[in-house]
Parts: sequence; structure tokens; C-alpha cells
Amino acid sequence: MAMTSSAHRGGAALAAAAGPTIGLVLAPSHPAAESVPARPRALVVDDDDEIRRVLRRLLEREGFDVQEADGVDGALEVLAHDGEVGLVISDLHMPHRNGTELLNELLVQYPDTSVIMVTGDGDVSTAVECLKLGAVDYLSKPIDLPVVRARVAKAMRDRARNVELRRLQQTFEEDLQREVRTLSHRNRAMFIAQVQMAVTMLEARDAYTRGHSRRVAEYSTVIGRQLDLDVMLIDELQLAGELHDIGKIGTPDAVLRKAGPLTAEEVAQIRRHTIDGEAMLAALRDDHPAVLQVVRSHHERVDGTGFPDGLCGNEISLLARIVSVADAFDAMTSTRTYRELQPTASAFEVLRQAAGAQFDPVVVTAFLATQSLAAVEQRNSPT
Ligand SMILES: [Fe+2]
Repeated sequence: MAMTSSAHRGGAALAAAAGPTIGLVLAPSHPAAESVPARPRALVVDDDDEIRRVLRRLLEREGFDVQEADGVDGALEVLAHDGEVGLVISDLHMPHRNGTELLNELLVQYPDTSVIMVTGDGDVSTAVECLKLGAVDYLSKPIDLPVVRARVAKAMRDRARNVELRRLQQTFEEDLQREVRTLSHRNRAMFIAQVQMAVTMLEARDAYTRGHSRRVAEYSTVIGRQLDLDVMLIDELQLAGELHDIGKIGTPDAVLRKAGPLTAEEVAQIRRHTIDGEAMLAALRDDHPAVLQVVRSHHERVDGTGFPDGLCGNEISLLARIVSVADAFDAMTSTRTYRELQPTASAFEVLRQAAGAQFDPVVVTAFLATQSLAAVEQRNSPT
């Protein structure tokens, strides 16, 4: 702690000016204050040893733990070392750096600290400036100790109120943020439910694709488990499988259901469902970025000839590579308008042959290796 080693302005002057009042107020006013467990802390900043001594004694009698500093730098060192104090009484005019500089630092670094400035006799305009800056009060020299005591008591009351207000404000903001998070989570859940319903309606228009997304989600999670993916990624695969073709909502029925060969424009329209789907799910970008990647990239091919971006190999996200296999398998094993159903064994063979070109061979191997094909068999068996 930085303390003055000499009095720059002489303690005698203070004693002469404030002698009678010192005697008046230094009588113990709150003897019980010593027994209060958490004593408030105060810092007295003045280059005058005598003034510091007088203020220290007064504040100690008011129940404070008091530290001293003989200048701005010393005060900041004390605070940096020992932490925030409830009250700072600082002289305005000190060598090197003046009290307003300290006040400005305190307001930024220790906003809950109450600062009382001590000004020279008649220096009221500067004191008013300090109040404008953020000091809670000011004292004029010569120091009148009853006045100091009253101002300190008021400053501490104000501080307690401000700290409580700040605490309430912080609590309110935290509650509000929690509410917003809950609400946005609920909104996202509702959004997902709406999109899932939209997919169901989209597929319900076409008997040949009914249940496609649900099955793709099912196959995708089977593959994900076979690859020992984390449970969170499995959940993402489930959602991605359900939503991968959401962009087809914007594709004309006439194109989707066309039995004959497609024109170049119609092919472009169908391909657009990847990009359109990603855009439709933009609200999920922060929480489910992997799902958006799948929606955009589930028609990419590992040999780089897919769409919409022509990505190669691992440039395509793993989840998209998985959904790609699941999607193709379901397309082959479901009756589509444009071709007939393939038996399961034949579909597996197609996947095997396309591994390394259209599909990730690791994913295909995982799918072929899985024994969890009961759902496939069950769906293909007559009910
Ligand atoms: Fe698709």
C-alpha cells in the first residue's frame, strides 16, 4: 500500500482549522460497530498525512476498515491489490495526478464504489464538476467532521441502494435472457414440428413417396449407430433424414410426378430442392447446422459429380454421406413413379457397386454390415 511519508501541506494547518470539530466528533459514536462481522472498507486518498489520519480515525469509529494512499497511483494500487472498497474519500488537488483522474478510473473500474471528493476552501465549481462526473458528494476544507460523518452515512445509504438496484437489474436481465432462451427453444421446437408436418403433407400427396423421409431417417440412424456415432449426431441424423427433401415443397407436382424423361429445366427445378430446403430451414442454422448441411448436400457424390456444389469425398459432411446412402436405398426399395421397385438384395448390390463413386464406401459397408434391417424386411413384407 502506498502511504505518504511526509505531509506536503502540513498537519498544523489542519489542526488549526479543524481542531475544535475533531474533538467534537471523534468521540465513539457506534461502539458496537466493531463487532459487526463484515466491516465496510474505505480508502482515504490525500497527500496530507494529517488529513488522512483524521479521516481514518473518523471512519474507523464509523465501523470501517480503512486503508490510505497518498496519491492516485497509490490508491489504484491498493484497490488492485485488495479489491473494491465501498467508499473512497479523495482529495481533489494532489501532486502528479489530481482527484478527478482517480474519480474517472473508479467510475470505470469500480462502479459500486461511492466516491466523496475533498476540495479546497471555496472550490465549489470544481466540486460540482466532480458531482457531474459521478462523485456522490464533496467535502470542503477545512474539514468539518460532523459534516463528514453525515456525508459518509448518506453515501453508504446511496451505495447500498445502488448496489441493490444493480443486483435487481442483473437478476431481471438474467431472468429475461432465460425467458428468451426458453421461448426461442420453444419456437424452434414448434418450427421443427411444423416442418415435419409439412414433409408429411408433401409426401402424402404422392402415394409412392409416402413415409420416405421417415424411412430415410430410420436407415440413417441405423448406419450412424453402426459407425458408433455420438448420440447427439444420431439425433441430428434423425432430424436430417426427416427434413432432407423439405425443399421439394417448392417443386411443381407435375415435375415431381412426371413419369417420362425430364427436360433440362425440370432437372434444374428438382435439383434446386437442396438449396431451397437449406434456405427454408435457416431458422435452425445456429442449433442444427449439421442438418442444414445434409439438406444441401445429400445429393453430392464422393466422386465430385453430384449437386449442388460438386463436393468430393470428405468435403461432403459425414451425415450427408450417410443420408445419401439411406435416401438412395429407400428410393430403390420403394415404388417410384419413374421406375419400379427393386428387391432389397438388388438395392444392396447397387450400393456396393456405387461405393467409391456415388457413395462413401465406409458408409455403404456399415449399412451392408448392419443386421438391423428388420424394419426394411417388415416394410417389404405384406401386411
Ligand atoms: Fe433429395
